[in-house]
Amino acid sequence: MCGIVGYIGYREAWPIVLKGLKRLEYRGYDSAGIALMNNSGQHIYKKAGKVAVLEEFAEAHDKSGTSGMGHTRWATHGVPSDRNSHPHTSNNEKLSIIHNGIIENYATLKEELTNRGHEFKSDTDTEVLIHLIEEIQEIEQIDLLEAVRLALHEVNGAYAIVIMDKEHPDRLIAARKGSPMVIGVGNGEYFIASDATPIIEYTKNVIYLKDGEIALMTREDLLIKQLDNVIQTPLIQELELKLEMLEKGGFDHFMLKEIYEQPRSIKDCMRGRIYPEEGKVQLGGIKEFAEKLKNIDRIIIVACGTSWHAGLVGEYLIEEYARIPVEVEYASEFRYRNPIITEKDVVIAISQSGETADTMAAIEMAKERGATIFGICNVAGASIPRLTHAGVYTHAGPEIGVASTKAFTAQVTVLTLMAFYMAQQKGTITTSKLIELLTELDHIPEKIQVALESNDLIKEVAEKIKDSTNCLFLGRGSGFPVALEGALKLKEISYIHAEGYPAAEMKHGPIALIDEEMPVVFIATQNSSYEKVISNIQEVKARKGKVIAIVTQGDTEVKKMADYCIEIPDANEAFLPLIATIPLQLLSYHIAVMRGCNVDQPRNLAKSVTVE
Ligand code: M6R
Repeated sequence: MCGIVGYIGYREAWPIVLKGLKRLEYRGYDSAGIALMNNSGQHIYKKAGKVAVLEEFAEAHDKSGTSGMGHTRWATHGVPSDRNSHPHTSNNEKLSIIHNGIIENYATLKEELTNRGHEFKSDTDTEVLIHLIEEIQEIEQIDLLEAVRLALHEVNGAYAIVIMDKEHPDRLIAARKGSPMVIGVGNGEYFIASDATPIIEYTKNVIYLKDGEIALMTREDLLIKQLDNVIQTPLIQELELKLEMLEKGGFDHFMLKEIYEQPRSIKDCMRGRIYPEEGKVQLGGIKEFAEKLKNIDRIIIVACGTSWHAGLVGEYLIEEYARIPVEVEYASEFRYRNPIITEKDVVIAISQSGETADTMAAIEMAKERGATIFGICNVAGASIPRLTHAGVYTHAGPEIGVASTKAFTAQVTVLTLMAFYMAQQKGTITTSKLIELLTELDHIPEKIQVALESNDLIKEVAEKIKDSTNCLFLGRGSGFPVALEGALKLKEISYIHAEGYPAAEMKHGPIALIDEEMPVVFIATQNSSYEKVISNIQEVKARKGKVIAIVTQGDTEVKKMADYCIEIPDANEAFLPLIATIPLQLLSYHIAVMRGCNVDQPRNLAKSVTVE
């Protein structure tokens, strides 16, 4: 939530910061702002709306300067408006700040500062922090870095901040706790951003700022210290990210590009991890826990949104193959319960971004109670991989569309591999069975490619149901999480109300909604629940519902009943979610485009939910 970018060096800062904000817009897009330092002082431009609105607004203004910082906002405190947009300034207007996160004790601090004569120009928590820093600096008569350090001891919550000082235009100060920050190291220049995407075209050398660290950047130097004042030696790492990964590559939207990338992303996810001829799975990231996995009592999967749906698929697979009991928990609920966790439990935290606040809090709680924590994450170097004991990256590449697509199938792939790996360790699967499963899994990317070829047909179906106000998605077994994911995709990007349900649960309530206006999407492939799903389709048809069925290639039974059938290649039930999800992603995509929605940046949403 919220994207931040800063620059200090020898180049013009405006184009770097502006372009960086466009790259970070997936993190928040209700307002944007940029502050620049030049010979005539500090210039702040900020506007409600997208970065493009800010760009247009600043067109005729002075945009020179070789240091600057910018922010794209996802509102938490205060409505999206010009005045609530970042950067915010201190009482004397000498200091300015951009912030990603939430200052939880801002109300108390604001009251105290107001009583001491501070006047606030916005409704944000962020402005309170910069007033506090200014006050500490004035009272203590200390330099800004020290004032920031002391002020951060007084705030609760999460932050990634960048601060500029009119009196020292040759400095940027940054700090983080709970919200991500990467420093790009150039020659005579430094970059800072919420992730590496604004930095990649200028330098590959980065430093991931750690929680509780403050950085002071000048053109020539970088100083990093901890909140307790201990100076740190920065670890410079080389980025693996490539520029073309951040572009649409000829597609109309990132979401469509990312849907079409899935044959490749799943291959990347499996590369070096499966050995079909030997019937072997290798997961380097968790191998030091191989012995432990033989004796664990239980697995708890924690995640949010789409990642939680992937967790449900994982539950089916791990229980089926490794015979370990699995519970799948919403991280936001789990963290506030008092769950029974023992040292024999393994918690698997799933997160595309690796920054989801609730998932991070759930990890911390489970860790305190002695559990072993594995992460499944897409973004390298994010916070969750740092918090966990071990983990497996999904290697799906950057996912820019807010609606998760390739990250979901990559998460499911990793969970499939984990289920087989655990089964291998525990001896609950034979080598010959593993050879059979892994040989098929190896060819799943080709089957996904075939599923993508139904795009034109899916577009026709989308045209028929695009004006619906509601939609039901039904499935059984591992088709149920697929139904949930299909419903989430549709609602988040097209704003059509959609519900996912286990097909058999329909008669316990949702059946009351069915009439000729209600499209019902069934996962009706030929697996163990095929006959049962056919009965459920008949129940819907008997009430004049419109049935869209995802069926196995060559199906004849469902075709007799359904209004529209979309075929996918036949596959072992274990791999069904990987293929059946594809047409649902495309269906949501086309419906959203036809309804004129902003597919990549749906209203009210952000890609990384770094607030609870
Ligand atoms: O980055 P995470 O996987 O932790 O994010 C979890 C959810 O916020 C995310 O999956 C969300 O539901 C997506 N918008 C779904 O498309």
